[in-house]
Amino acid sequence: MDFEKVAKQLAHPVGSFGIEVALGMNHLNQFISKNTYDLLQLGDSDKVLEVGMGNGKFIKDILSYGDNISYTGIDISETMIVEAKKLNEKPIDSRRVDIIHASIEKMPFWEEQFNKVCTINTVYFWKAPLIALSEVYRILTEDGVFVLSFRPYIEGQSLDFSQYGFTEYKAEDIMALVNKTNFKIVDTINITEPPVVFNGQTHNLMSQYYILRKTR
Ligand SMILES: C[S@@+](CC[C@H](N)C(=O)[O-])C[C@H]1O[C@@H](n2cnc3c(N)ncnc32)[C@H](O)[C@@H]1O
Repeated sequence: MDFEKVAKQLAHPVGSFGIEVALGMNHLNQFISKNTYDLLQLGDSDKVLEVGMGNGKFIKDILSYGDNISYTGIDISETMIVEAKKLNEKPIDSRRVDIIHASIEKMPFWEEQFNKVCTINTVYFWKAPLIALSEVYRILTEDGVFVLSFRPYIEGQSLDFSQYGFTEYKAEDIMALVNKTNFKIVDTINITEPPVVFNGQTHNLMSQYYILRKTR
Protein backbone atom coordinates (compact mmCIF):
# COMPACT_ATOMS: atom_id res chain seq x y z
CA MET A 1 0.00 0.00 0.00
CA ASP A 2 1.29 3.48 -0.89
CA PHE A 3 0.69 5.25 2.44
CA GLU A 4 1.56 8.67 1.08
CA LYS A 5 -1.13 8.35 -1.60
CA VAL A 6 -3.66 7.14 0.98
CA ALA A 7 -2.80 10.02 3.32
CA LYS A 8 -3.51 12.56 0.57
CA GLN A 9 -6.90 10.98 0.00
CA LEU A 10 -7.75 11.04 3.70
CA ALA A 11 -7.06 14.77 3.74
CA HIS A 12 -9.06 15.41 0.59
CA PRO A 13 -10.59 12.39 -1.19
CA VAL A 14 -10.65 12.73 -4.99
CA GLY A 15 -12.06 10.45 -7.73
CA SER A 16 -12.48 6.69 -7.66
CA PHE A 17 -9.50 6.12 -5.34
CA GLY A 18 -10.97 8.73 -2.98
CA ILE A 19 -14.29 6.85 -2.98
CA GLU A 20 -12.43 3.61 -2.15
CA VAL A 21 -10.43 5.25 0.66
CA ALA A 22 -13.67 6.68 2.07
CA LEU A 23 -15.09 3.15 2.34
CA GLY A 24 -11.97 2.24 4.34
CA MET A 25 -12.61 5.25 6.58
CA ASN A 26 -16.13 3.95 7.23
CA HIS A 27 -14.56 0.73 8.48
CA LEU A 28 -11.90 2.43 10.64
CA ASN A 29 -14.09 5.23 11.99
CA GLN A 30 -17.43 3.65 12.77
CA PHE A 31 -16.70 3.45 16.49
CA ILE A 32 -15.32 6.99 16.92
CA SER A 33 -18.26 8.35 14.90
CA LYS A 34 -20.89 6.59 16.99
CA ASN A 35 -19.24 7.77 20.22
CA THR A 36 -19.13 11.34 18.96
CA TYR A 37 -22.83 11.35 18.11
CA ASP A 38 -23.65 9.93 21.57
CA LEU A 39 -21.61 12.69 23.20
CA LEU A 40 -23.60 15.36 21.34
CA GLN A 41 -26.57 14.29 23.51
CA LEU A 42 -28.91 14.90 20.62
CA GLY A 43 -32.40 16.17 21.33
CA ASP A 44 -35.39 15.95 19.03
CA SER A 45 -35.16 19.41 17.45
CA ASP A 46 -31.40 19.88 17.34
CA LYS A 47 -29.77 21.61 14.41
CA VAL A 48 -26.58 19.68 13.77
CA LEU A 49 -23.55 20.58 11.70
CA GLU A 50 -20.89 17.97 10.94
CA VAL A 51 -17.61 19.20 9.49
CA GLY A 52 -15.79 16.78 7.16
CA MET A 53 -18.48 14.09 7.01
CA GLY A 54 -16.68 12.22 4.19
CA ASN A 55 -19.12 10.01 2.26
CA GLY A 56 -21.89 10.61 4.80
CA LYS A 57 -22.43 6.92 5.60
CA PHE A 58 -23.21 7.71 9.26
CA ILE A 59 -25.65 10.60 8.74
CA LYS A 60 -28.55 8.17 9.19
CA ASP A 61 -27.23 7.43 12.71
CA ILE A 62 -27.50 11.10 13.69
CA LEU A 63 -31.04 11.31 12.27
CA SER A 64 -32.04 8.23 14.27
CA TYR A 65 -31.77 10.24 17.51
CA GLY A 66 -34.95 12.21 16.78
CA ASP A 67 -37.59 12.77 14.09
CA ASN A 68 -37.06 16.54 13.96
CA ILE A 69 -33.28 16.68 13.96
CA SER A 70 -31.90 18.58 11.00
CA TYR A 71 -28.40 17.87 9.72
CA THR A 72 -25.96 19.86 7.62
CA GLY A 73 -22.66 18.34 6.50
CA ILE A 74 -19.76 20.21 4.94
CA ASP A 75 -16.61 18.88 3.30
CA ILE A 76 -13.85 20.34 1.13
CA SER A 77 -13.94 17.32 -1.18
CA GLU A 78 -16.32 17.57 -4.13
CA THR A 79 -16.05 13.77 -4.51
CA MET A 80 -17.34 13.33 -0.94
CA ILE A 81 -20.13 15.85 -1.54
CA VAL A 82 -21.36 13.75 -4.50
CA GLU A 83 -21.07 10.48 -2.51
CA ALA A 84 -22.80 11.89 0.57
CA LYS A 85 -25.64 13.21 -1.59
CA LYS A 86 -26.04 9.79 -3.27
CA LEU A 87 -26.10 7.96 0.06
CA ASN A 88 -28.64 10.34 1.63
CA GLU A 89 -31.07 11.06 -1.20
CA LYS A 90 -34.24 10.51 0.84
CA PRO A 91 -33.50 12.79 3.82
CA ILE A 92 -32.14 15.41 1.40
CA ASP A 93 -35.42 15.29 -0.56
CA SER A 94 -37.38 15.69 2.66
CA ARG A 95 -35.10 18.63 3.62
CA ARG A 96 -33.79 17.08 6.81
CA VAL A 97 -30.27 16.89 5.38
CA ASP A 98 -28.21 19.45 3.52
CA ILE A 99 -24.73 18.75 2.12
CA ILE A 100 -22.53 21.72 1.28
CA HIS A 101 -19.08 22.11 -0.27
CA ALA A 102 -17.16 24.29 2.22
CA SER A 103 -14.20 24.43 4.55
CA ILE A 104 -14.29 24.83 8.30
CA GLU A 105 -12.13 27.94 8.02
CA LYS A 106 -14.84 29.82 6.08
CA MET A 107 -18.32 28.48 6.58
CA PRO A 108 -21.29 29.85 4.61
CA PHE A 109 -23.57 30.08 7.66
CA TRP A 110 -25.13 32.80 9.80
CA GLU A 111 -24.13 33.42 13.39
CA GLU A 112 -25.80 30.98 15.79
CA GLN A 113 -27.27 28.76 13.04
CA PHE A 114 -26.57 25.43 14.80
CA ASN A 115 -26.80 24.23 18.39
CA LYS A 116 -24.70 21.07 17.94
CA VAL A 117 -21.50 20.75 15.91
CA CYS A 118 -19.14 17.81 15.56
CA THR A 119 -16.08 16.88 13.60
CA ILE A 120 -14.33 13.54 13.49
CA ASN A 121 -10.76 13.01 12.31
CA THR A 122 -10.45 16.32 10.49
CA VAL A 123 -8.36 18.43 12.89
CA TYR A 124 -5.13 17.00 11.41
CA PHE A 125 -5.89 18.78 8.14
CA TRP A 126 -7.01 22.23 9.30
CA LYS A 127 -4.73 24.84 7.78
CA ALA A 128 -5.62 27.53 10.33
CA PRO A 129 -6.84 25.80 13.53
CA LEU A 130 -7.64 28.97 15.48
CA ILE A 131 -9.67 30.41 12.62
CA ALA A 132 -11.44 27.04 12.32
CA LEU A 133 -12.39 27.09 16.00
CA SER A 134 -13.53 30.72 15.83
CA GLU A 135 -15.76 29.84 12.87
CA VAL A 136 -17.38 27.00 14.83
CA TYR A 137 -17.85 29.39 17.77
CA ARG A 138 -19.49 31.96 15.50
CA ILE A 139 -22.08 29.63 14.00
CA LEU A 140 -23.00 27.96 17.34
CA THR A 141 -25.87 29.23 19.48
CA GLU A 142 -25.06 30.37 22.98
CA ASP A 143 -24.65 27.25 25.15
CA GLY A 144 -24.29 25.22 21.95
CA VAL A 145 -22.02 22.18 22.06
CA PHE A 146 -19.08 21.25 19.85
CA VAL A 147 -17.60 17.74 20.01
CA LEU A 148 -14.14 17.51 18.45
CA SER A 149 -12.97 13.92 18.05
CA PHE A 150 -9.61 12.67 16.89
CA ARG A 151 -6.91 10.12 17.51
CA PRO A 152 -4.13 11.77 19.47
CA TYR A 153 -0.50 11.20 18.67
CA ILE A 154 0.88 8.49 20.92
CA GLU A 155 4.36 7.25 20.13
CA GLY A 156 4.31 3.86 18.44
CA GLN A 157 0.56 3.87 17.93
CA SER A 158 0.12 5.87 14.73
CA LEU A 159 -1.36 4.26 11.66
CA ASP A 160 1.17 4.00 8.83
CA PHE A 161 -0.23 6.86 6.76
CA SER A 162 -0.28 9.54 9.46
CA GLN A 163 3.36 10.52 8.91
CA TYR A 164 2.40 12.04 5.54
CA GLY A 165 0.82 15.49 5.59
CA PHE A 166 -1.03 15.01 8.88
CA THR A 167 -0.59 17.46 11.72
CA GLU A 168 -0.60 15.00 14.57
CA TYR A 169 -1.79 16.43 17.88
CA LYS A 170 -0.99 15.23 21.34
CA ALA A 171 -3.84 15.61 23.83
CA GLU A 172 -2.16 18.63 25.40
CA ASP A 173 -1.75 20.35 22.01
CA ILE A 174 -5.51 20.44 21.49
CA MET A 175 -5.98 21.64 25.07
CA ALA A 176 -3.54 24.51 24.41
CA LEU A 177 -5.37 25.40 21.20
CA VAL A 178 -8.82 25.38 22.78
CA ASN A 179 -7.55 27.46 25.70
CA LYS A 180 -6.86 30.27 23.23
CA THR A 181 -10.58 30.43 22.36
CA ASN A 182 -13.73 31.37 24.29
CA PHE A 183 -14.94 27.78 24.39
CA LYS A 184 -15.42 26.24 27.79
CA ILE A 185 -14.05 22.70 28.04
CA VAL A 186 -16.89 20.66 29.52
CA ASP A 187 -15.07 17.36 29.39
CA THR A 188 -12.32 15.42 27.64
CA ILE A 189 -12.77 11.71 27.23
CA ASN A 190 -10.25 9.06 26.18
CA ILE A 191 -11.45 5.75 24.87
CA THR A 192 -9.52 2.70 23.73
CA GLU A 193 -11.44 1.49 20.74
CA PRO A 194 -12.28 -2.16 20.02
CA PRO A 195 -9.52 -3.83 17.95
CA VAL A 196 -9.72 -2.93 14.28
CA VAL A 197 -7.85 -4.51 11.35
CA PHE A 198 -6.08 -2.15 8.96
CA ASN A 199 -3.73 -3.35 6.20
CA GLY A 200 -3.58 -6.86 7.68
CA GLN A 201 -2.65 -5.66 11.18
CA THR A 202 -4.83 -5.38 14.27
CA HIS A 203 -4.78 -1.96 15.95
CA ASN A 204 -6.05 -0.89 19.37
CA LEU A 205 -6.60 2.76 18.60
CA MET A 206 -7.16 5.40 21.23
CA SER A 207 -9.61 8.18 20.48
CA GLN A 208 -10.08 11.42 22.30
CA TYR A 209 -13.20 13.60 22.51
CA TYR A 210 -13.27 17.26 23.50
CA ILE A 211 -16.72 18.42 24.56
CA LEU A 212 -16.77 22.20 24.24
CA ARG A 213 -19.50 24.70 25.07
CA LYS A 214 -19.97 28.19 23.70
CA THR A 215 -20.04 30.66 26.57
CA ARG A 216 -19.80 34.44 26.45
C1 LIG B 1 -9.96 11.43 7.42
S1 LIG B 1 -11.46 11.96 6.65
C2 LIG B 1 -12.65 11.68 7.96
C3 LIG B 1 -14.04 11.46 7.45
C4 LIG B 1 -15.06 11.13 8.55
N1 LIG B 1 -15.27 12.25 9.43
C5 LIG B 1 -14.56 9.93 9.33
O1 LIG B 1 -14.12 10.10 10.48
O2 LIG B 1 -14.62 8.83 8.77
C6 LIG B 1 -11.32 13.73 6.66
C7 LIG B 1 -12.44 14.42 5.91
O3 LIG B 1 -12.41 15.82 6.26
C8 LIG B 1 -12.44 16.59 5.07
N2 LIG B 1 -11.73 17.84 5.36
C9 LIG B 1 -10.38 18.03 5.45
N3 LIG B 1 -10.10 19.31 5.74
C10 LIG B 1 -11.29 19.95 5.85
C11 LIG B 1 -11.66 21.30 6.13
N4 LIG B 1 -10.74 22.25 6.33
N5 LIG B 1 -12.97 21.63 6.17
C12 LIG B 1 -13.92 20.66 5.94
N6 LIG B 1 -13.63 19.37 5.66
C13 LIG B 1 -12.34 19.01 5.62
C14 LIG B 1 -11.78 15.71 4.01
O4 LIG B 1 -12.15 16.09 2.71
C15 LIG B 1 -12.27 14.33 4.40
O5 LIG B 1 -13.52 14.02 3.80
